[in-house]
Amino acid sequence: MANNADESTSFDIVVLGGGSGGHACALRAAELGMTVALIEKDKVGGTCLHYGCIPTKALLHAAEVADAARDSAQVGVQAPLDGIDVPALHSYKDGVVTRAYKGLQGLIKARKITLVEGAGRLVGPNAVEVDGTRYEGRHLVLATGSYAKTLPGLELDGERVISSYEALTLDRVPSSVVVLGGGVIGVEFASVWRSFGAEVSIVEALPRLVPSEDEDVSKVVERSFRRRGIGFKTGAPFKGVEKTDSGVRVTLEGGDALEAELMLVAVGRGAVTEGLGYEEAGITLDRGFVPTDDRFRTNVAGVYAIGDIVPGLQLAHRGFQQGIFVAEHIGGLDPVPFDDTGIPRVTYCDPEVASVGLTEAAAAEKYGADNIEPYQYDLAGNGKSQILKTQGFAKVVRLKGDRVLGVHMVGARVGELVGEAQLIYNWEALPDDVAQLIHAHPTQSEALGEAHLALAGKPLHVHS
Ligand code: NAI
Repeated sequence: MANNADESTSFDIVVLGGGSGGHACALRAAELGMTVALIEKDKVGGTCLHYGCIPTKALLHAAEVADAARDSAQVGVQAPLDGIDVPALHSYKDGVVTRAYKGLQGLIKARKITLVEGAGRLVGPNAVEVDGTRYEGRHLVLATGSYAKTLPGLELDGERVISSYEALTLDRVPSSVVVLGGGVIGVEFASVWRSFGAEVSIVEALPRLVPSEDEDVSKVVERSFRRRGIGFKTGAPFKGVEKTDSGVRVTLEGGDALEAELMLVAVGRGAVTEGLGYEEAGITLDRGFVPTDDRFRTNVAGVYAIGDIVPGLQLAHRGFQQGIFVAEHIGGLDPVPFDDTGIPRVTYCDPEVASVGLTEAAAAEKYGADNIEPYQYDLAGNGKSQILKTQGFAKVVRLKGDRVLGVHMVGARVGELVGEAQLIYNWEALPDDVAQLIHAHPTQSEALGEAHLALAGKPLHVHS
C-alpha cells in the first residue's frame, strides 16, 4: 500500500528499506529534487530507532540514573534507590521512540517521498515488487539492514535464550544473566542489567572485552566492570546451553559452567539479504553481505547498497552518511568518498568508550611501532571527571612529527567528546593545531586538549 498518494510507480530512486541508511538516502534525494519511493515492511527508522540505538540508550540512561541514586550519598545527597519500575521504564523508552518516529514520518511526508508500506522484493535490476505492484527506479538503493546472529546449533527461543530484540522489552529485571559476546551489545546490556541489580556474567571468546577497541581501553572497561561486580570470562568460547528448572546452564570450552535465569546472545549481526531477489538480479553476495565500491555501487549497474548489508562497521551514522552519499552521487554532486576508519564509534556502557581512527596496535602495524607516538592523558587530572567521580583516559596516537592517527577514550560521558575527536582525525590535524585551541574549563574535553598539548611538547597538568 502506498501512502503520500502518488499515482506513479516510476521514480528516480527506489530505496528498499527505511532504516538509518534508507531513510537518509530518501530524504537527501528528495531534497535534491528527485522522485523517491521508500519501501518499508515494518516502521521507518528501522532497527536503530525501534529496536536498537535509541531504545537501548534510553535504558542506559535509566541505568545511569539508578547508579546516581545508588551512589548519591557519595556526593552528600540522600536518594535511596527503591527499585526499578519496569512498566514505567518501558513507557519512558517507548515515549522517546514514538516522538522520534512521528518526527521522521513527518519529514518523509513533508519531502513528498512515496512511502510504500510492505515487503519488497527485487524483480530485476531496476524494479522492486511490493504486494503485486511494481516500483521502477532509474536507480535502486538496497538498505535492508541486519539481524541478530546466533551460533550454529544455538537456538534463540526468545524466552530464556534471547537476542537484544527481546532484551529491550523484557517485562522484568532478570535476577541473573549470562551475556554471550563481550562486544558492543554485550557490554551495553551487561551494564544496564547490573545497574538495575542483576547478577551478570559475560562470556567472550577473544582475550578481552570490547576486543575491537584499543587494548588500554579494554583494560579500563574490565577493571571498572570488576569493580561494579560484573563477572566476565575472556578467551572463553561458548560450548553449549541447556535449560534448567530455573533458567539456563551455559558451558564453555575448557569446562567452566555458568547458571542464570537467561542468556543474551550478542555475537554479531548478519545482513538481511536472503530471499529478496538480490542474487536473481545478478547481485554478488559475500557471506550474505553486499560488496560495493567506494561509491556504494554494487556489481549491477544502477543498483547501490548502503548500511549494515555492506561489509564494515554496522553503525547507524555510517548508514546515514552512505545514504546521503548515494543520493548526492546520483544527483551528480560528486561527493568525496570516505573511509570507515574516520567513522566515530561509541559504546554506551558504564564507563563509556569512544574512539575514531586507528588503535595503537593497528597504527603500529600500519606505520611501524617506531614511527608512532601514543599519549594517554589520565582523567585523574581532569577536574570535571573528578567531579563525576569517573576514571579513564583520553589517548591520542600520532604519526611521529605528523598527524593524529587515532583517538581512544574511556570514562563517564566520553561519548560526547567523540565529535571533537572525529574532527581532529578527519581533518588530519597535527597535535600542534589542536594545542593552540581552547578547551572550556572545567569540561572533560580538556582531557583531549591536554593529550594534544603533551604531544605538541608542552604538557600542562601532567606529572612527569
Ligand atoms: P560485536 O561484533 O560487537 O561483538 C560480538 C562478540 O561476540 C565479539 O567480541 C566476539 O568475539 C564474540 N563471540 C563470537 N562468537 C563467540 C563465541 N562462540 N563464544 C564467545 N564469544 C563469541 O557484535 P554485537 O555486540 O552483537 O553487535 C552487533 C553490531 O551492532 C556491531 O557491529 C555493533 O557495532 C553494532 N552496535 C553498535 C552499538 C553502538 O554503536 N553503541 C550498539 C549496539 C550494537
